[in-house]
Amino acid sequence: MRIGTPLAPSALRVMLLGSGELGKEVIIALQRLGCETIAVDRYTDAPGMQVAHRSHVVAMTDGPALRAVIEREKPHLVVPEIEAIATDMLVEIEKEGLAEVIPTARAARLTMNREGIRRLAAEELGLPTSPYRFADSLKEVQAAIDGGIGYPCVVKPVMSSSGKGQSLVKTPADVATAWDYALSSGRVKQARVIVEGFIDFDYEITQLTVRAVGASGQVETFFCEPIGHVQVNGDYVESWQPMAMTPAALAKARDIAAKITGNLGGRGIFGVELFVKGDDVWFSEVSPRPHDTGLVTLATQRLSEFELHARAILGLPVDTSLRRPGASAVIYGALQEKGIAFDGVADALAVPESDLRLFGKPESFVKRRMGVAVANADTTDEARLRAKLAAGKVRPVKA
Ligand SMILES: Nc1ncnc2c1ncn2[C@@H]1O[C@H](COP(=O)(O)OP(=O)(O)OP(=O)(O)O)[C@@H](O)[C@H]1O
Ligand SMILES: [Mg+2]
Repeated sequence: MRIGTPLAPSALRVMLLGSGELGKEVIIALQRLGCETIAVDRYTDAPGMQVAHRSHVVAMTDGPALRAVIEREKPHLVVPEIEAIATDMLVEIEKEGLAEVIPTARAARLTMNREGIRRLAAEELGLPTSPYRFADSLKEVQAAIDGGIGYPCVVKPVMSSSGKGQSLVKTPADVATAWDYALSSGRVKQARVIVEGFIDFDYEITQLTVRAVGASGQVETFFCEPIGHVQVNGDYVESWQPMAMTPAALAKARDIAAKITGNLGGRGIFGVELFVKGDDVWFSEVSPRPHDTGLVTLATQRLSEFELHARAILGLPVDTSLRRPGASAVIYGALQEKGIAFDGVADALAVPESDLRLFGKPESFVKRRMGVAVANADTTDEARLRAKLAAGKVRPVKA
C-alpha cells in the first residue's frame, strides 16, 4: 500500500463510513500521513465531513446506496466508524475486491449484532461472558429469566449502541417495561433482545488492541495500557489510562483480547470491553474500530488510538506506549438547539495540562456528546479531577 498525493491519480483513498468525533480524528490522522479522505454519514456537516477532502450524505444501512458511493469514489480502504451499516453489502464489496474493508467485512457484520459477536466469543472461542439468552417476545424474556438468567439481569436490543434501549431488570415488575423500552429504541424494528445475567464487577475496562504489521513483516497483536471508565445508562462519561489491574487480571484481559481480535482478523485498532472482579475477567463486547473511551489516548499515548488505527490500516508500524497518565470527561449538549456556542473555553483550558475537543456537531441534544476534555497528571486520580473540572467549565449556550 503506497501513499501518493491526495487529489492526484496516485492518491491513496480512504473512505470513512460514519464521520462523528471518532471518524474526524481518524481522518485527521490519515491526512497527516498524506491520504485522500472521503467522509460519509447520514447527515450533513457531520464532524468528519468538516475536515475530509470530500463528503457524501448517505443512508449507510441502505445497501445499494452504500455500494453506489463506493463505486463512485473507488476508495482503496473502507473504514467503518459506526455499527449501523449494511454489512452484508460490505461482505460483497470485499468479496468482489472493490475495496478493502477495515478490519474485515466479517468483523463489521458480526459486531453490528450482539448475537453474532456473543455466540462467537462464548460458544466458538469459549471466552468467559455473562450468562445470556436471546428472546423475541416478552414471554421469551420472562422464560429466559426464569429458566436460569435470574435477577438482576440486563435486557438489550441485539442491534443498538450507546446504551440505547438497554435496561437493568431487578424484579419481575421491571420485565415488561424493559421489553417495551428495548422495542422502542432498537436500531431496527427487530423484536430481538439479549438477556444477560448482571455481572457485579469491581470495574470495567477497554483493552485497546492493535493488529498491525510488526517487525516480522506479518500482522502482530499490540496492546495499549488498559483504560478504566464510568458508564451512566450505558453511555461513557469519563475514562482514564492506565487502569491499575492485578497482573493476573491484566494477563486474562489480554489473552481474551488477543483471541477475539485474532479471530476477527484484518488490520486496525479494536476496543475490547471487559468486566473485572478481583482476578476474574469477562468479555462483554468488542468494537473493530476506535472506541469512545479511548478519546483519553489523545492526551496519554505517544500515538492516539486514531493515529494507531491510521498506521495499522496503512500497513505501517505502531507504537502503543503510554506517555503520561491522563483522563477524559465528556461534554454534553445540555440544550436541544442547532448551531450552539460554547462559553468558558478559556477557563477550561486554564486547568493545568488540559485540552479540549469540540466536535462541531451541527445540532445539540441534551444528552448528545458535543465535546470532550482531556487532562494529564502524575496520577489518574488527579487527571480525572482535572478532566472533569475542565469539562465542567465548558457551557453550551444558545448562540
Ligand atoms: N451483563 C452486564 N452486567 C453488568 N453491567 C453491564 C452488563 N451489560 C452491560 N453493562 C453495563 O452497561 C454498559 C453498556 O453495555 P454495552 O456495552 O453492552 O452496551 P452498548 O449499548 O453497546 O454500549 P456502547 O455502545 O456505549 O459500548 C457496560 O459498559 C456496563 O457498564
Ligand atoms: Mg459497550
